[in-house]
Amino acid sequence: MSRDVIIACDFAGKEETLKFLDLFQEEKPFLKIGMELFYAAGPEIITEIKRRGHKIFLDLKLHDIPNTVKKAMAVLSKLNVDIVNLHAGGTIAMMEAGLEGLRRPDGTRPLLIAVTQLTSTSEEKLHEDLLIDRPMDETVMHYAKNAKIAGLDGVVCSPLEAARVHEVCGDEFLTVTPGVRFAGGAVGDQVRVMTPYAARMNGSDYIVVGRPITAAADPVEAYRRCVAQFVKGEQE
Ligand code: C5P
Repeated sequence: MSRDVIIACDFAGKEETLKFLDLFQEEKPFLKIGMELFYAAGPEIITEIKRRGHKIFLDLKLHDIPNTVKKAMAVLSKLNVDIVNLHAGGTIAMMEAGLEGLRRPDGTRPLLIAVTQLTSTSEEKLHEDLLIDRPMDETVMHYAKNAKIAGLDGVVCSPLEAARVHEVCGDEFLTVTPGVRFAGGAVGDQVRVMTPYAARMNGSDYIVVGRPITAAADPVEAYRRCVAQFVKGEQE
């Protein structure tokens, strides 16, 4: 297993992103690129960042009919990204199609992970808006199991759910977890958070960290602090 810290590059455009990456002279952090930056800067931003030697988690959360997802995934796979994702709510058939689309002619493919239920969806909305009458935990674990059945590599989940996902889907099934904050740091709009060290102890395979690094006075120092806790297991 390759435990790593992924920096969420939630920047509005290319210039801002590359300026941020220029701060890192010694390390080549794993980066998450989301919809905002991808739609604003286009696929060239991926090519540019890959050229600089970073691994990329392209967080576009695909959700459509299986054939469309398969074809879209084939396009993303050509960008040589390392992780991509889709919504488990699109059904097992859609996840299988996505996986198929990702396979390159040489047999390699990016890792494919699923979003179960968004952490912005409350238990109340799950019942009232989505008409899912099962509890959130049961729904999340069921979607994770579906992702595993479809042959996916893991799920995006809260670090609080990581241990349970491993219990249900096995140790090899990856948990990629946002909602990470330093002890005593600003929580922002995240509700349920964990420190990098606690996320490690709870079994997260990758942590996705945005503002605690991108908005820090010294982002390189903040990144190193995350790596020390999460990858090296150093308790503060
Ligand atoms: O700045 P912060 O550390 O809160 O950033 C977390 C990143 O992870 C953001 O890009 C956010 O969109 C993403 N994310 C999340 N919760 C989820 C799924 C994705 O915070 N359930």
